[in-house]
Amino acid sequence: MQTVTSLDPLRNALAVLRQDGPIALVPTMGALHEGHLTLVREARKRAAHVVASIFVNPRQFGANEDLSRYPRPLERDQALLKAEGTSLLWAPTVEAMYPDGYATNISVSGVSAGLCGEDRPGHFDGVATVVNKLFNQVQPDLAFFGEKDWQQLAVIRRMARDLDLALPRVEAIHGVATVREADGLALSSRNVYLSPEQRAQAACLPRAMDAAIGALRAGAGVAGALADLVTTLIDGGFSSVDYAEVRTADSLSPVAALDGRLVRLFVAARIGGTRLIDNKPV
Ligand code: PAF
Repeated sequence: MQTVTSLDPLRNALAVLRQDGPIALVPTMGALHEGHLTLVREARKRAAHVVASIFVNPRQFGANEDLSRYPRPLERDQALLKAEGTSLLWAPTVEAMYPDGYATNISVSGVSAGLCGEDRPGHFDGVATVVNKLFNQVQPDLAFFGEKDWQQLAVIRRMARDLDLALPRVEAIHGVATVREADGLALSSRNVYLSPEQRAQAACLPRAMDAAIGALRAGAGVAGALADLVTTLIDGGFSSVDYAEVRTADSLSPVAALDGRLVRLFVAARIGGTRLIDNKPV
């Protein structure tokens, strides 16, 4: 597996790989875990070559967020990607991605409003902008993203439709189911911030979500089920809940009562300084 950090070597390497067939892109910010490796495995099933990218994108971090302390274990990540059969790693420097004078922003309205869009202003502009650039740089035939960041996936699909992105077309953007620890906690690069005690408390999140989903399916009202969920999280050791909402799965419209549409439960909650997000189908 070759690692390239600037555009010319990337294009040269891609030209060689493309001769063998379709290329799948797995965009990441590194600090890889089993969830990312599952994306690589799914990508390998559908393409001749997998190109992974690792770029801790400054434009998607808020001023008070964890950009400077975000884990960057590059050598470990390279070994993991290589072991999964990744053909090429695109690991641009910040200067290669955003050269001096860089001035363009992509903003997707609608699906990026509310949920993480409200708590993290500008976050989805940063995501849409960098993913658009990654698509243009790599020109993949397919791309793979985790469903843990369901709203991010909705933003990327909306952007691909709206901007007529030829490669990948919206159907070529694959969402892959969230990978979880044995106690149900969704894998996240940010789980390393949790102390052992916080890590044990964090399992309350998927448990409380399952209980809320069970109550909703049994006929409980949305507002009551969400209020119980928030109480359970605070009692379970979470310091605050940024949001707990039921929204439609595709357009992410808020849902006040279940009416047969496909809906999901979305939660973001904090333990100490660490913000955890999760979503599940209702
Ligand atoms: O999900 C992520 O890791 C990032 O948001 C992404 C899609 C790689 C863009 O920086």
